Amino acid sequence: MNVAAFTGFGGPEDVAVREIDTPGPGNGEAMIDVHACAINRHDLWILEGDSAMVGSEELPFVTGLDVAGVVRTVGDGVKSVSAGDRVVLCPNQTCGVCRFCRDGPENLCEQFSLFHGGLAEHAVVNADRLVTLPESVETTAVAAVPTAYMTALHMLRRADVGPGDLVLIPGATGGVGVAATQLVDAVGARSIGTSTSAAKLDRLSGIGADFTIKGNDTETIGDAVANIGAPDAVLNHLGGEYTEMGLSVLRRGGRMVICGRTAGGRSEIDIPELFLDHKHVIGSTMGTQKDLQTLVQLLADATFEPVIDDEYELSDTDQAFADMQNRDIFGKLVVHP
Ligand SMILES: NC(=O)c1ccc[n+]([C@@H]2O[C@H](COP(=O)([O-])OP(=O)(O)OC[C@H]3O[C@@H](n4cnc5c(N)ncnc54)[C@H](OP(=O)(O)O)[C@@H]3O)[C@@H](O)[C@H]2O)c1
Ligand SMILES: [Zn+2]
Repeated sequence: MNVAAFTGFGGPEDVAVREIDTPGPGNGEAMIDVHACAINRHDLWILEGDSAMVGSEELPFVTGLDVAGVVRTVGDGVKSVSAGDRVVLCPNQTCGVCRFCRDGPENLCEQFSLFHGGLAEHAVVNADRLVTLPESVETTAVAAVPTAYMTALHMLRRADVGPGDLVLIPGATGGVGVAATQLVDAVGARSIGTSTSAAKLDRLSGIGADFTIKGNDTETIGDAVANIGAPDAVLNHLGGEYTEMGLSVLRRGGRMVICGRTAGGRSEIDIPELFLDHKHVIGSTMGTQKDLQTLVQLLADATFEPVIDDEYELSDTDQAFADMQNRDIFGKLVVHP
């Protein structure tokens, strides 16, 4: 079978199509014909050599978390799915026995990791991690959902976002940003989205953003947010100096949830402001398989439609990563292996 493999950590020029043996499913596993696999900045971190999860000993490496397709064969002991089922994979990998696996939520698992291997014609996965699709849900659309929308949904929950809330989403035009904008809209809250691109912000208004701010310096963005109002919550996947900015504009008692570090892994916190204003800073990673089931149902109900900017053949996977690296992306990019 063909896969799109990372052959080095230099960037998109190190993505190549390779032929490898087609794997078969072991106990408890299913082999899927992959129809669609979305990419995430997580994959780009790996390709740029900036991920603790994947070292050079694992090259050539096949990434791809967000897999949708059709079950071709199942291994021994699999009861949850059978050949011919249309499915999407929850990329969570958990130990099943730690206190968080026992008590929930599962994304706190002490051994938490993620599936990689979707940028391939076939993928062998844990069958229990497959969610079967209602007839109305397309594999291409649902491939855009797992990582970005599960993460955004869990962030909304961690931030306790409810109807009428004002929510700041710095960098609202990528995978997590667009997902957060749509879900904030779906719960009846209002969003402020930021970007360096006026064209992307026009599109963001079209999918439910209430306020948009164009800018790339946090001082200008912070002033513009203050003119709109003090957010009840900040959904922050950029990290870096967006953290200081977000905390300073947050209302008293407001909540900032952080899931990423695109703009930097460090930031300063004004400690007196934090405690005197009773603000919260909350870490968050991914969501649960139940969240993915909920999102698939919301898709079936047409509560939201995942935003897919571009689709690529497997042989153009390098271009998909180049587009993400160049910030030439609105929402999600999907590869068809
Ligand atoms: N912890 C978790 O479970 C989890 C899950 C998913 C994602 N994440 C993290 O969340 C982040 C977003 O992931 P994603 O897949 O949504 O990425 P993405 O699609 O590439 O995000 C693009 C967005 O980020 C903005 N951006 C890109 N580089 C920037 C920079 N240097 N400074 C400021 N803004 C920048 C873009 O702004 P413009 O519109 O101006 O181009 C755009 O709005 C990543 O850090 C990722 O690792 C974490
Ligand atoms: Zn566990």
